[in-house]
Amino acid sequence: MSHIPVLLNEVLEGLEPAAGETFVDATLGGGGHSQAIAERLGPSGRLIAIDVDSSAIALAREKLQVPGKLDLVLGNFRQIKELVEPLAPAVDGILMDLGFRSDQLLAGKGLSFERDEPLSMTLGESSMYSFTAKEIVNDWEEAHVADIIRYYGEERFAGRIARAIVQSRKQGEISSTLQLVAIIESAVPKWYRIRRLHPATKTFQALRIAVNDELDALRDGLTGSWELLQAGGRLGVISFHGLEARIVKNFFKEKKLEGGQLITRKAITASREEIRLNPRSRSAQLRIISKK
Ligand SMILES: C[S@@+](CC[C@H](N)C(=O)[O-])C[C@H]1O[C@@H](n2cnc3c(N)ncnc32)[C@H](O)[C@@H]1O
Repeated sequence: MSHIPVLLNEVLEGLEPAAGETFVDATLGGGGHSQAIAERLGPSGRLIAIDVDSSAIALAREKLQVPGKLDLVLGNFRQIKELVEPLAPAVDGILMDLGFRSDQLLAGKGLSFERDEPLSMTLGESSMYSFTAKEIVNDWEEAHVADIIRYYGEERFAGRIARAIVQSRKQGEISSTLQLVAIIESAVPKWYRIRRLHPATKTFQALRIAVNDELDALRDGLTGSWELLQAGGRLGVISFHGLEARIVKNFFKEKKLEGGQLITRKAITASREEIRLNPRSRSAQLRIISKK
């Protein structure tokens, strides 16, 4: 399953990568946005592409055809400033396309509730993280598990799911995704099990956000990105759920008060045609701001 870049034209129109400029793609992924940005930067441009997942870096090394200078950096964008500054002290544009890419669902990371895999959920190597999803469900207190599922998953049955997890682990370790799916299904009412949205969607989202510390990483990444931009530089962020969108919106509001200029007054969303071709784009929201 290859990853289709979302809102690609809108990203190019709003970030306006131009010949000779230096850009950062903070979420390289399958390299779709990187490739298109690099083509606009041309032979005298420079693209610095970051991903926390080494498979994205390996794929890009093989696949990306960049006319100018390319730096592939394995790392977390929460350290974007430290990662980029030694290569380029100031940049013209930065893109953050949040979350995970389609092929990471098939990579044995435990991100999919449709495949039986170990419960890890780290986007990068698990050794880079403080804990995995397996530790949350087996070791954390019920109230803490419920809070994670409630706040990061916005799951209305968080309390019931956390209780079922704690009951189940008394019988033995919860170690696989399908084991967790069965526990979630046993905890929610029948009408919730037969809806279009899979009943495990929100719990899986919550665990992934917690394990990867996604919201704090986003806050740190936005702050570092802003510091890296030179005057007139543009920052674009594509978010996929309300928690991320809120953080981006508030950050942009704060920077507007400090003189930043919103390129997108309202978030840009995918056209009906894009959603038809790539259902994942349904929840994508693009926001762009420029630094004065
Ligand atoms: C939605 S995909 C990006 C897709 C990409 N724009 C494309 O066109 O293929 C998000 C990527 O960001 C990476 N990622 C997520 N959180 C990260 C973080 N905190 N630091 C660095 N990379 C991260 C994921 O590993 C994934 O490859």
